[in-house]
Amino acid sequence: MKIASEGAVGSAVDEGRAAEQTLDPEDWEAFRALAHRMVDDMVDQTRGLREQPAWQQPPTDVKRAIQNEPLPLDGQGAEQVYADFLKLVQPYTSGNRHPRAWGWVRGNGTPLAAMAEMLSASMNSHAGGGEQSSTFVEERCLQWLAGVMGMSAATTGILTSGGTMANLLGLAVARDARAGFDVREEGLAGNARLTVYASSETHMWARKSMDVLGMGAQQLRLIRVDEGFRIDIGALRERLREDRAAGLRPIAVIGNAGTVNSGAVDDLPALAALCREENLWFHVDGAFGALLKLSDRYASLVRGVELADSLAFDMHKWMYLPFEIGCLLVAEGSAHRAAFASTASYLEGNTRGMLATGLIFSDRGIELTRGFKALKLWMSLKAYGLRTLGTQIEQNMEQSQFLEQRVKEEPELELLAARKLNIVCFRYRGKIFRDEDFYNALNRELVIRLQESGEFVVSGTELRGRYALRIANTNHRSRLQDFEDLVQAMLRIGRELDAVRG
Ligand SMILES: Cc1ncc(COP(=O)(O)O)c(C=O)c1O
Repeated sequence: MKIASEGAVGSAVDEGRAAEQTLDPEDWEAFRALAHRMVDDMVDQTRGLREQPAWQQPPTDVKRAIQNEPLPLDGQGAEQVYADFLKLVQPYTSGNRHPRAWGWVRGNGTPLAAMAEMLSASMNSHAGGGEQSSTFVEERCLQWLAGVMGMSAATTGILTSGGTMANLLGLAVARDARAGFDVREEGLAGNARLTVYASSETHMWARKSMDVLGMGAQQLRLIRVDEGFRIDIGALRERLREDRAAGLRPIAVIGNAGTVNSGAVDDLPALAALCREENLWFHVDGAFGALLKLSDRYASLVRGVELADSLAFDMHKWMYLPFEIGCLLVAEGSAHRAAFASTASYLEGNTRGMLATGLIFSDRGIELTRGFKALKLWMSLKAYGLRTLGTQIEQNMEQSQFLEQRVKEEPELELLAARKLNIVCFRYRGKIFRDEDFYNALNRELVIRLQESGEFVVSGTELRGRYALRIANTNHRSRLQDFEDLVQAMLRIGRELDAVRG
């Protein structure tokens, strides 16, 4: 094949060449120097996290500078924009990287995975599938994860942006696999008869997903929980019976391996058995709890995860990876593919060429174009090894045990739920008995004061109408002393508030 040499191209091309531009640096060496500085600053900043405020309110002038900036028509240059980043953006985070961050359920991220993200962005792989290493890396990671979770060799998976997306996709597979009619043909009319069951402690992703999937949030049956916040299986059976009698079509049960509020783990083996009996899909939300499978010591706490037809979990929570990365595993790979695979002439695969492997990940989810999330996972698994990640999780469990014990020892503090995993829910109670409204108002204020102190990133929740400070420990930077300091801060601020309000 003859390719025209540069000298042979026409004069029109020569004329156009002067005006051609690219977004690559004009001066690669200057760019290299800036890039090195960015990496150096990032390392220093991460190393010094403990000396920085856990969280700080963005000042008004910072908010104004961002919110009022006109759209830049002419470029300011990379040096200037990096200076703005250092001043306006970097200091004002949600604090989850800090050693004293235990609010909601957020991970820290690691410096290594941050570098992996940079490498992944520089590769800019379109990770829909096809003949490229990113496909094989992601597929291998998914097989490793299926093995860790104890799922079968037929399991397929997909990495997602997070737990909500992984759970949503799992429920979509459930609906297609168990609806008993062609959901795409019958559409909304058929959907209206489908019901899904979960405990009242299930995360709100389930309601959102029911709506998005056209089944409607009202078709999600929230079943009451027992004393330990686990689904009441007797009540579940009863509701299934009533719904079938009313002509509805139950399709799936969602089990929790670690509820968001208190870390409760449903009786997963019993739910799996019930699902088999009733021909229902068994989906497990193991957002953070399922990761206990990485620990030999604690894996038994989430026994039954391996029985799921589909399992969702988050590696940006308890595998310490930076946002975003969640995972869906589906035990029957064919059901997974059936829910999402679709064809189009412009994406046609072949036995040779770039698409010889097919767009396998596009066929397991909604997105066609997706980034190479697997790189940070692959690099972390290989660099640390599963054992180190497992012992890191064990450290978090033991720190949570310590906190629970300290709360029990302090008469002015009160535990509001027995700790099961890494979540400790408690409140300031003081020395004199007060009513529930008083405690709720005081503890709400206490959580905000702790946040505003810049010392701790914490959050709260309600358990049976009682407001609790809720510590979810997925933090690889915390030390036992941090939890002791939290107890002391709770007592100090609690006493101050008690004195003012009492
Ligand atoms: C139990 C549980 N499920 C689902 C989610 C949603 O996950 P994500 O925030 O990654 O979408 C969370 C988030 O905290 C969770 O705790």
